[in-house]
Amino acid sequence: MLPSLRLHLSFWPLQPQATLTLSSGVTLGSAKLGAPYLNVKELRRVGFFNLPLFGYPWPMSLISFQHVRKSFGPKQVYQDLCLDVHAGESLTIIGGSGQGKSVMLKMLIGLLDVDGGSITYDGKEITECDDSEWLAVRRQIGMLFQGAALFDSLTVRENVAYGLREHLHMDEGAITQRVGESLASVGLPGIEHMWPADLSGGMKKRVGLARAIAVRPRVLLYDEPTTGLDPISTNRINRLILSLKRELQVTSVVVTHDLQSAYMVSDRMAMIHQGKVIFTGTPKELRTCTDPRVRDFVEGNLTVAGEETSALGT
Ligand SMILES: Nc1ncnc2c1ncn2[C@@H]1O[C@H](COP(=O)(O)OP(=O)(O)O)[C@@H](O)[C@H]1O
Ligand SMILES: [Mg+2]
Repeated sequence: MLPSLRLHLSFWPLQPQATLTLSSGVTLGSAKLGAPYLNVKELRRVGFFNLPLFGYPWPMSLISFQHVRKSFGPKQVYQDLCLDVHAGESLTIIGGSGQGKSVMLKMLIGLLDVDGGSITYDGKEITECDDSEWLAVRRQIGMLFQGAALFDSLTVRENVAYGLREHLHMDEGAITQRVGESLASVGLPGIEHMWPADLSGGMKKRVGLARAIAVRPRVLLYDEPTTGLDPISTNRINRLILSLKRELQVTSVVVTHDLQSAYMVSDRMAMIHQGKVIFTGTPKELRTCTDPRVRDFVEGNLTVAGEETSALGT
C-alpha cells in the first residue's frame, strides 16, 4: 500500500514552517516560509503545490545543484553553484552571455563533468551514477538545444524518432504514432517527410521540441528557445512552453537572456552572475529586486529591447 502524505504547518517559533511527512512519520522535507503570515503565494513559492496529491513521495526539489564547481583550464565558470528546481515548476535561468547558463544544463545532462559539489535528480546523486542508473535518469530529461541541433541528414520524422529508437526501443507502428502526436503538440502536424533545410528557424526549434517531448520526459530543458526568432515565433514558442508544462505536467528549466520571454513563462527565476546564483524569486520579485547587479541586468535588457524596438520602427 502506498504511504499517504501529510502537510503540517507550524507557526512556532515565530517563523512559519511547513513540513511534509509520510504517514509512517518520516519527514520528507520542510521549508521555512518567509512571510510573517502564511499565504498561498508563499506556499507556492516553496513548491508545495507542485507535489502530486497521490502516489509516492517526491522530494520538494526534483533537481538540486549543491556547491558545484566547474572550470575550463584557468577559467572558472562556477565557484559555488547552489540551486533547487522544484517538481512541476517552470524555472528560468537568466544572466549575461558567457555566465555559464548552457554549462549548467550540460552538467545536468552529463555532457560536461563537474569538478566538485553535487547534483541530485529525484534524490539520486547523478555525478556518481553508473551507466544504467544514468540512462534511467537521462531518459526522463528532454532538452531543446540552442539552435535546435537537428540532424540535417535525417527527415523530420527520423529526427523526432531519434530518442524513441535510442532510449525506448519502440516498434515502427508506435514510433509513427508518437512522432505524429509530438509534431501535433508543437503545432506542426504532418511534416514528417520534410528535411531540416526546408524549415524556418522557428519551425526548427519546434521540431527540436517535438523530439524532446517524444520520449515523454518528466523534465524539459530549454537552452535559449527564443534566440534568433522573430516576435511572432518567439511568442509561439513561449506559449508552447506554457502549454507543454500544463498538458504534460513537466518540470521546465528555461535558459534565456530574453527577459520578456522569461517573465512570460516563469513561476520562478534565478539569475547567475560570476559563478553563483545571486537571485531566486518570482518575476514580480525580480522586478522589485534592489541588488545593483540584478538591476543592471534588468535595466540593460530594457534598454536593449527599447533600442531594438526603435531600430525596427525606423
Ligand atoms: N566546452 C568548453 N570548453 C571551454 N570553455 C567552455 C566550454 N563550454 C563553455 N565554456 C566557457 O564557459 C563559459 C560559460 O559558457 P556558457 O555556459 O556557454 O555561457 P552562457 O551563459 O552564455 O550560456 C564561457 O566563458 C565559455 O567560453
Ligand atoms: Mg548559452
